[in-house]
Amino acid sequence: MKTVEWAGDRVRLIDQTRLPWEFVVLDCTDHRQVASAIREMRVRGAPAIGVAAALAVALAARRSAAANRAALLADLADAAEELRLTRPTAVNLFWAIERMKRVIQSAGQDDDNIDPLKAALLAEAEAIATEDEDCCQRIGAHGASVVPQGARILTHCNAGALATVDYGTALGVIRAAHAQGKVAHVYVDETRPLLQGARLTAWELDQAGIPFTLITDNMAGHFLHRGAIDLAVVGSDRIAANGDVANKIGTYSVAVLCKENGVPFYAAAPTSTVDLSLASGEDIPIEERSPAEVTHLAGKRIAPEGIRAANPAFDVTPHRYVTAIITENGVVHPPFGEGLQRVVGAGGRR
Ligand code: MRU
Repeated sequence: MKTVEWAGDRVRLIDQTRLPWEFVVLDCTDHRQVASAIREMRVRGAPAIGVAAALAVALAARRSAAANRAALLADLADAAEELRLTRPTAVNLFWAIERMKRVIQSAGQDDDNIDPLKAALLAEAEAIATEDEDCCQRIGAHGASVVPQGARILTHCNAGALATVDYGTALGVIRAAHAQGKVAHVYVDETRPLLQGARLTAWELDQAGIPFTLITDNMAGHFLHRGAIDLAVVGSDRIAANGDVANKIGTYSVAVLCKENGVPFYAAAPTSTVDLSLASGEDIPIEERSPAEVTHLAGKRIAPEGIRAANPAFDVTPHRYVTAIITENGVVHPPFGEGLQRVVGAGGRR
């Protein structure tokens, strides 16, 4: 199944908090359940969050008891607001909700017949999901062109099928390059605190039959210094107009280590992750999550009780560390300003 999908009358998603121990499918019959699933990271990864939110708006419309247009719009505004408050960093969430809002704004004004609007919202949410799959395939194809023969690739967090509807962004690049026989090996950062690398990327690569080695985050420098890695490719949650890249905490360290060791560092993302309204990464909101995710590992406390712990979920990699940004509309090299505008514009106004 897809990471997140519409299943007749509900939103169905893979519960990623249970992987790799068990494969659990979560059926959400209410948009609030989807909001909780996003907040609790049962569904996570920037594109998947956006798709889940869009489907949740369509679900809210379907479930609404409103008898007229005004009442339905009020229900949808509440649902959109609840979804907007789930996670602040991945711009795909806000991008997808905006697309749903545009459908509402462009719908007819017929007060009595609200069924066409409900149908249009579901069609738009499903289009967002389909486009995401297409974007990942195209990111993979573009990205494979920068991967040299026999490449040993480092990745961080999970930017795979589980972070999208299918296939993945950074892992899409790795999948496509592997299909072309170019990938010798992948190094997977475990990605503390929630272990998306160890739990999810390792699970996906194992299933795909791509050779890999799991390492702890603090080993990346060692392998880069030893010359064991030819390039790094990661996903992104938000890319500012100047090419600064917000991604899972620890990405910045990987990028700096790559530069120090003369290794190219790529960010792969759909253009829905590019936020041209922000001049630089300084303005990207960084999600702070519970300290319990740091003091505990798989539910078990690993630090003394009552201590202070910080938990910023993302960091920002300044664009000077980024070799290129791989999008569905092409690979953007520095200087990023113009190139990002070009690839975003190439998608038309979606
Ligand atoms: O906190 P998460 O697991 O949602 O963070 C995910 C990442 O940082 C991914 O790299 C990013 O969303 C890109 S996913 C294609």
